[in-house]
Amino acid sequence: MDSRLDGRAIAKSVRTATRNAVESFSAHADPPALAVVLVGDHPASASYVRGKKRAASEVGIQSTVHRRDASISQHELLDLIRTLNADDAVDGILVQLPLPDHIDQYAVIETIDPTKDVDGFHPQNLGRLLIGTPQFVPATPAGIMVLLERALDDLAGARAVVVGRSNIVGKPLAALLMQRDANATVTVCHSRTRDLAAHTKAADIVIAAAGRPNLITADMVSDGVTVIDVGINRVDDDSRERGYRLVGDVDYDAVAPKAHAITPVPGGVGPMTIAMLLRNTLQAAQHRRA
Ligand code: GUN
Repeated sequence: MDSRLDGRAIAKSVRTATRNAVESFSAHADPPALAVVLVGDHPASASYVRGKKRAASEVGIQSTVHRRDASISQHELLDLIRTLNADDAVDGILVQLPLPDHIDQYAVIETIDPTKDVDGFHPQNLGRLLIGTPQFVPATPAGIMVLLERALDDLAGARAVVVGRSNIVGKPLAALLMQRDANATVTVCHSRTRDLAAHTKAADIVIAAAGRPNLITADMVSDGVTVIDVGINRVDDDSRERGYRLVGDVDYDAVAPKAHAITPVPGGVGPMTIAMLLRNTLQAAQHRRA
């Protein structure tokens, strides 16, 4: 049986639903508008931002990229965000991460108006998620929940192991999985976890979000496991024109035969992240202009 969980196809169905809803919305209002802030010339970030812009345009969301040099001061960046906060024509604001070292990422995120925070990274939005009254759910964890709903009938009581504790994936995902509408039993593992394999082997669901190629190998999972691979790692590959290829955190070829469902990289979580961002942007427009 093919265990491949096709994030591209599932993301496409989410985008189609969003496109239809954007069309209804835009029949009597200006289209939803997303402001993307991109600082510096991090190649992966520039590529993600291009992908977000293209996807926005395909569903009828208007987007503007505000590119700033890596040398921008924190003060200037906060000023830009305050300007976007005050601009009634802007529904959603997204600051692409990572930011240059001299900028305090948390100060930037806290400056975004929480009602425009389509990434869901503002402490108010993360706090609301934790207490079970979410406003904006971070896109990657939200997309992972959709993938899990497609792969499994019911998450209630399932043993879910999240590998990675970042603020943008691991922590919010753990909160979503233990929410009352999901009811999974959640373990969060990280770089200091002892005997990671003992945890992953006992899991019904493994979500790998550590950013380490080949972290999850076939001997570390049980038959019938559902695996979500959040890793996007560039590994050198001279046979590719661009000199690298993208791999996840999971040894896909070895794990797939044991898995009930598993997401590939690329074509798994990545497309879902973008689809959920578009959904959040529509939601911001609906909420702000109601
Ligand atoms: N960098 C890596 N993932 C993300 C994301 O989901 N949103 C933003 N803004 N930056 C990121």
